[in-house]
Amino acid sequence: MSHSRVMLQHTTAALSRGILSFPRVECNGFAIHRTPVYPDIGYGGNRVSNEWVLILDFGSQYTRLIAKAIRELEVYCEVAPPSVTAAQLHDRGPGALVLSGGPRSVYGPDAPRLDPEIFELGLPILGICYGMQLLAHRLGGRVERSKSEYGVSTIEITEDDPLFAGLDEREPVWMSHGDVITELPPGFRALAYSVGEPNIIAAMRDESGSIYGVQFHPEVHHTPRGPLLLENWLRRICGLCDRWRPGDLVNEKVAWLREELTGKRCLIAVSGGVDSSVAAVLVQRAVGDRLIPVFVDTGLLRKGEPERVTKVFEKLGFPLQAVDARQEFFERLRDVTDPEEKRKIVGERFIRVFERQAQRLAKEHGKIDVLVQGTIYSDVIESGGAGTASHADRIKSHHNVGGLPERLGFRLVEPLREFFKDEVRQIARALGIPAEILEEQPFPGPGLAVRILGEVTPEKAALLQEADAIFREEIARAGLEREIWQYFAVLLPVRSVAVRGDGRGYGYVIALRAVHSRDGMTADWHRIPHDVLERISSRITNEVPEVTRVVYDITSKPPGTIEWE
Ligand code: XMP
Repeated sequence: MSHSRVMLQHTTAALSRGILSFPRVECNGFAIHRTPVYPDIGYGGNRVSNEWVLILDFGSQYTRLIAKAIRELEVYCEVAPPSVTAAQLHDRGPGALVLSGGPRSVYGPDAPRLDPEIFELGLPILGICYGMQLLAHRLGGRVERSKSEYGVSTIEITEDDPLFAGLDEREPVWMSHGDVITELPPGFRALAYSVGEPNIIAAMRDESGSIYGVQFHPEVHHTPRGPLLLENWLRRICGLCDRWRPGDLVNEKVAWLREELTGKRCLIAVSGGVDSSVAAVLVQRAVGDRLIPVFVDTGLLRKGEPERVTKVFEKLGFPLQAVDARQEFFERLRDVTDPEEKRKIVGERFIRVFERQAQRLAKEHGKIDVLVQGTIYSDVIESGGAGTASHADRIKSHHNVGGLPERLGFRLVEPLREFFKDEVRQIARALGIPAEILEEQPFPGPGLAVRILGEVTPEKAALLQEADAIFREEIARAGLEREIWQYFAVLLPVRSVAVRGDGRGYGYVIALRAVHSRDGMTADWHRIPHDVLERISSRITNEVPEVTRVVYDITSKPPGTIEWE
């Protein structure tokens, strides 16, 4: 089916779902219905125009990178499990489909499959690595095990094709596969080969130009022209022409929230971090003082944090309801050393405290209808909310107020559910949110409970806060604040001997952690200059007498995680 037929089909589907009121725009000669709003809160990006891409996740570690790369090209996309059926796809109406890579072999017994009827939809499809092999396998070609190719490789482009517009004849690419296509499906032709490996097909397409496959990974930065290739596919081949910019969506989002939440009273738990602050500001713009922001002081925050958060919200014009729950948290954490157990306790306690506060506020202000949460798209993917194949590998349980809305009969509103972190920052900028929130470092929900290794006590929390504050002060003094993505101190559960004046000391060990990262998924340790490290160490051991030793963590992620627990 031609591409124009496909576009028309989807437009017709949207029209038949009763979506007639959106402005029509002409784009590449096709009539397209723009989506001015998100029709259903809680299902971010449940869009009615077809100007977006669905990525089927076959379990690749790079799937999220595909999503980020496409969004950076200003095309909206979402990740879904490979079990999506043709009927569901037709209903959701994406303009194009990406089949991700994955760790399996298409001929293996546990290989994830694809509903064959999807091909009947005639959607433009791009298969990447496993996705390409799956296309070849399903459409009558042959895939076989071969010598694995892992790392940077070079491809030679042998066909003049819009996919490669602007690329050179030879391009470096990132390969990561054990299987290869040894026979193309009928009607397909090869567009590129691996240099030096004449039989390894690096790219293919079908006759009509709606199905493409690439053996390499355009989404990783080791494929330098990957973004151009993806842009060619999105714009030239799929004909998508909307420019999706999260910052431009603020007014629509607020207008829609205003309508949805008319007369409703809303509650949000704010932490001072970017996500909950942006969610709060968006909803506050829509409902004004019908939004009540609650801040829970768990005693597990960095030094000065409760005061800072309170001040920021005052500046934003809506005072916080602060709850001092420090004692309660420390009591529950007594004698607990297992990291997962600590995370669970903090999460559960948070819910209990918040619940009590909600009931108190309901007595004071009247019924509360809605709980607003700053859930972002990585949380959705990570918690398996997008139903992705990769959620099985959850490394740590993340802390949120899950389970609360049903118990309290609240409706859950997640205005940032479809956005990645950097997109939330774009929205924050458009909302005029102060830099001190925007630049706030990520902070784990369980807070210092996972930075105090072993048992958590108020005394340990206090000395970690002091050491951490010194670390922060010295980083700021050295002008490294903007350079380091995340940095913090960790209190180790071991003691170490020290010389103190004429006697011997036996005190705590503080580990310093400072990393570079783009999104927290991978990280490299920061090379803090030695003289800065020296100052930090000397100040901590002098000013926090319980600490007798300071060490610096030089582990990357992987294998180490950023937090120590
Ligand atoms: P890890 O330790 O998994 O951390 O490498 C990756 C990033 O996530 C932050 N982190 C959390 N954030 N709740 C959160 O909201 C959590 O439970 C949590 N645990 C870790 C961490 O600080 C780092 O930026």
